[in-house]
Amino acid sequence: MGETMNRDYMFKYDNVMDEVIGKDGISIADIGKIENKIESAYNGILEKAEAGELGFIDILDSDLSQYDKVKEHSKDFEYIIVVGMGGSVLGTQMVHEAINGLYYNEYSSPKVYFLDNSDPEKTYRILKLVDLEKTLVFAVSKSGNTVETLANFFIIRNLMMKKVDDYEKNIVAIANGGTLKELTEKENYMFFEIPENVGGRYSVLSAVGLAPLSCLGIDIEKLVKGAIKMNNSCNNEDVFKNPALMNAVIHYLMYNKGKNMSVIMPYAERLHKFGMWYRQLWAESLGKDGKGQTPIVSMGAKDQHSQLQLYIDGPKDKIVTFMRVNKFKYDLKINHELESNLNNHNLSEIINSEQSATEASLTCHGVPNVKVVLEELNELSLGKLLYMYELQTAFSGELHGVNAFNQPAVEQEKEIAREILRGTPLEELMCIENYQYNGKYTISCD
Ligand code: PA5
Repeated sequence: MGETMNRDYMFKYDNVMDEVIGKDGISIADIGKIENKIESAYNGILEKAEAGELGFIDILDSDLSQYDKVKEHSKDFEYIIVVGMGGSVLGTQMVHEAINGLYYNEYSSPKVYFLDNSDPEKTYRILKLVDLEKTLVFAVSKSGNTVETLANFFIIRNLMMKKVDDYEKNIVAIANGGTLKELTEKENYMFFEIPENVGGRYSVLSAVGLAPLSCLGIDIEKLVKGAIKMNNSCNNEDVFKNPALMNAVIHYLMYNKGKNMSVIMPYAERLHKFGMWYRQLWAESLGKDGKGQTPIVSMGAKDQHSQLQLYIDGPKDKIVTFMRVNKFKYDLKINHELESNLNNHNLSEIINSEQSATEASLTCHGVPNVKVVLEELNELSLGKLLYMYELQTAFSGELHGVNAFNQPAVEQEKEIAREILRGTPLEELMCIENYQYNGKYTISCD
């Protein structure tokens, strides 16, 4: 106990146990007390999977050769722009950064840009950086109707129409319906369908992620293989052998002990976007019916100098997840005779010692923490990691009794935004009766 899986990928949870951290910890008996709940969470997911409701599991069996044509086609281009919001883009960004590393555009091609907002300055800058003739655009939207995605896509398409012969060949659409699919049918873009039963934030291993990632040099077979391996490891009703179920249970028990915040703290910059992806997955899946744990992304070691004081000495409302990589792709030796602590150490030893030190301090102060240790960060281990978190989130939904696969509040906002764009006055849209949007409580400054 305290550890599951082999050394290539380890999930360690010693530091949530009361025998280690004291009163804020949990015990084996606590896990035993909710045995029936755990069993029904496990079976609930199994039943949903058997009923064909969980597309993120089904897609593990997809034929990956379907992406060969887009990969081949992308060789004609120097730039890629991925247009999408939330679950339609975050997973692609996460895998790209975790595997291709930081500053990729400065030393690799095709250069890639993510249009993941409707900030005009961002879109303007990106359009200044690319040559549209040599740009392949992925327009990604499951609904095919998300306003920000369509807005950015229409701007690019209209510019391409003016500047590029046969501009349709520069566009790949990935959707399940809506305006995007309608336009695709009319203009005949290369197209990938997002299966109906794959939700946005669970879609990175569908065409949403795999089509663009296959054009960015990612070994998508290894990525999916990692996910399949994790699926096999988690196909186990014994919570002590199932890391996704165990981490769901730990977070559930901690939430019930008042740990309302879940901090994810990778000690590898390549995993920063993983934190951002997790933040969406956890928040949008579980923030429902007055329940939910607020996910926070902190970067080790740098946020020790920014957040750690609060985590250790502030309110005891957090559970922390460390992510650690044993072998970095590149490493550098430090030599300086004046600093014997540093002399002859590698930079990787510094960052990992910082991780150990932070873990020790949190543990000494009774702050619950778990840890995922990757021997190396590559497609295989990343596939395992992201899939563990997808499954963990699904199990968590069952434990909390919320639907982890819908996002009614997000859909409501999307509808309100559409109404505002149609010109409906804000006061008519507000859910507060007699709301007067009159700025009575405003402070203006010169
Ligand atoms: O996870 C989700 O469902 C959301 O974050 C969506 O991915 C996001 O709102 C974008 O929606 P769509 O893919 O329909 O454009």
